[in-house]
Formats: sequence, structure tokens, C-alpha cells
Amino acid sequence: MLTPLAASLETERLCRLAPVIPVLVIDDAATARPLAEALVRGGLPVLEVTLRTDAALDVIREMAKVEGGVVGAGTLLTPSDVHAAQEAGARFGVSPGATDTLLEACESAGLPLLPGAATASEAMRLLERGYSVQKFFPAEANGGVPALKAIGAPIPQVRFCPTGGVSLKNAGEYLSLSNTLCVGGSWVAPKELIAKGDWAGIEALAREAAALPR
Ligand code: 3PG
Repeated sequence: MLTPLAASLETERLCRLAPVIPVLVIDDAATARPLAEALVRGGLPVLEVTLRTDAALDVIREMAKVEGGVVGAGTLLTPSDVHAAQEAGARFGVSPGATDTLLEACESAGLPLLPGAATASEAMRLLERGYSVQKFFPAEANGGVPALKAIGAPIPQVRFCPTGGVSLKNAGEYLSLSNTLCVGGSWVAPKELIAKGDWAGIEALAREAAALPR
């Protein structure tokens, strides 16, 4: 059992480890280990592996072995996703939105969850339950920096990891907001570089992202 308050303390700690959480959609588990090593070497230790590919659970298993990394599972939708992710070695979870069923599953499994919220009401409902650290998703499609800033005026006690459409170009603007702890994004692990096994290229992208001021 993990209370929402304890979950939020842990997700806040993770969000403070680096300015960017790579969002990883990986098709081939053989690429998992060198990819995670490159991202960690580049200064991004917290990794979100989306449960959107057949290989995702194997990817989590492989990445969990990488020293210095903290691997979590993204796209958690159901209790069975929560259990499968945890069994594979995920140390935290991320969801695009939040349902009571999903929140209960994470709390009873003891998996710290970064739950998604897109509106003031969603953020308030999560806060009421004790989740003060949330994922603002989909960030750009929801109005981006101005929207997140506006939510922060009446609800400053919720801190966010905006994700969805975030890139090197706009990450700095998000990170300058007082209610943003870090951002999530896939740009640090482009499919072409993974396919080529260009781990030095991915390390360089990670290094650039890790140097973003906040
Ligand atoms: C996703 O939906 O995959 C994440 O929100 C990442 O989005 P991005 O590819 O726009 O970074």
C-alpha cells in the first residue's frame, strides 16, 4: 500500500533528478540496454517506457538492470498494466489520465504514479485524493505553456511534468514555470537513431536536454 501523498513525494523526487524524462516507445528489446545506458550517461536517469509495444515489458526488464537508471512504465491504463509493469521491474508509473480504478491499483500495488491531468477539474480531483505531482497531458494540444501557467495561478500547489509535443525548442519555456518540475518527451530518443544504434548521438541529445536550466 502506498498513499497518494507518499507516491507524490517519490514522483517529485524523480522529477527533480533531471529536467527531462525521456518517453520511450521501443519495438526491439535488444536496443533497450544500450539505449538506457546512453541516456543515463548523458544525464537523464529517469526513463519512461510506454506500454505501447509488444516488447515494452521486456524493455523494462532490460533497462531495470542499468546502473544509475530509474525505469518506469508509461501508458498505464488498467490494473493489469500496473501489475505487469511492476512485475517487469518498473519503479514508477505514468498514465495519460486517471481513473479511480487505476489509482486504487497503483496505491494497493505500492507503485508510485505520475497521473495525467488535462484540466483544472482533473488536477483538483487528483489533488483532493493527495496527488500533488501530475503529468500535464497532452501539453501542447491543451494550450501549452500559457495553459499550464494559467492553471498554476489558482492551483499553485500542484506541480507538473508536461508531456506531449514538448521538444528542445519549447522545453525551456515550460521549465521556467513555477509549477513545472520537469518535462517528458520522446525527442531525446528518435526512432532513426535507435534503429541505427547511434548511441553516441542519443547520448549527445540527452546531454543537451540534461543541461536545460530550470
Ligand atoms: C506520448 O504520448 O508518447 C508522450 O506524451 C510523448 O509525446 P511526444 O512524442 O510529443 O514527446
